[in-house]
Amino acid sequence: RYKTLSVEEMEARIIEIKNKFGTRLYIPGHHYQKDEVIQFADDTGDSLKLAQLSANNKSAEYIVFCGVHFMAETADILTNENQKVLLPDMRAGCSMADMANLEQTERSWVKLQELFGDTMLPLTYVNSTAAIKAFVGKYEGATVTSSNAKKMVEWAFTQKERIFFLPDQHLGRNTAFELGIPLDAMAVWDPHTEQLEYTGELTDIKVILWKGHCSVHEKFTVENIEQMRSDYPGINIIVHPECSHEVVQLADYAGSTNYIIDKLNEAEPGSIWAVGTEMNLVKRLGQVHNDKKVLSLNPNMCPCLTMNRIDLPHLLWSLESIENGAPINQISVDKDIAYHAVLAVNRMLDRA
Ligand code: 13P
Ligand code: SF4
Repeated sequence: RYKTLSVEEMEARIIEIKNKFGTRLYIPGHHYQKDEVIQFADDTGDSLKLAQLSANNKSAEYIVFCGVHFMAETADILTNENQKVLLPDMRAGCSMADMANLEQTERSWVKLQELFGDTMLPLTYVNSTAAIKAFVGKYEGATVTSSNAKKMVEWAFTQKERIFFLPDQHLGRNTAFELGIPLDAMAVWDPHTEQLEYTGELTDIKVILWKGHCSVHEKFTVENIEQMRSDYPGINIIVHPECSHEVVQLADYAGSTNYIIDKLNEAEPGSIWAVGTEMNLVKRLGQVHNDKKVLSLNPNMCPCLTMNRIDLPHLLWSLESIENGAPINQISVDKDIAYHAVLAVNRMLDRA
């Protein structure tokens, strides 16, 4: 049926359903979502802001989450039993979150304890499954987002001598380096080979990084930065900390999606920017700041294919299912998992 409707007809139906449900319906949208979807978001934000908004929303009966699966899980963990969280397309996953599963993580923890005993505190980027958050919560650890990773890693070192950082090695490495931890005091744990990769002394290791990454942000390279600097002298390079260490070191600025947006808002008219993050956000920044030149750091642009699964037809499908009294794609985290995961998320929200 959605194939036969025009864009205008779908938009009109979405507005109609939104008006009908009022505050009983809440649509949060991540900054990487398409314009066709983000125009209907009640709030937009980065992962931290969306988690905070979900935790504070006690009135919405239905939360139609325009983002990816782990974000909808976090919203479900933080809301009450009467609130239903829906994800318009179940295929909207995250390849980074999929790089750490519970079985691997538990096995890795045992192996790492053989090397480091009880000296490690686990931290997980919110870009992880609820089961990984629960694992971290059980062992007194916390979640982090790209906005508060520095604060959370500092806190972690007040608890234990070492941190075990899941699943994004780049955010972990970039954050620890910013806090003055040298690269040779960081090791990479490969969950497939169950080998620890490091260059210094084992006893000096402070940070153990899970060998995961974001397939979108890994596409921004040192060569891209060199090319941009040669094509546009005086250009400002700003990247997300999911980019590699070399890219973050060469860039002028690095921070979360909210940080990038704020930085562009403050920028001088006429200034030139190359942005190393997901293409829907970069394109939108270019449209909003037509007095500045905003380019993607990688000229091929870098889409997050799973974020893009949420489109106008899926949003309408989700809203119509609510209207019909048979909500589809409800995200419902197992109670036991939610109990422990919320400990990890709240340790972060209490400090964020
Ligand atoms: P933030 O919105 O927290 O910067 O995260 C970026 C991201 O990759 C979300 O999937
Ligand atoms: Fe996952 Fe990267 Fe997409 Fe974010 S941009 S949802 S981390 S794959």
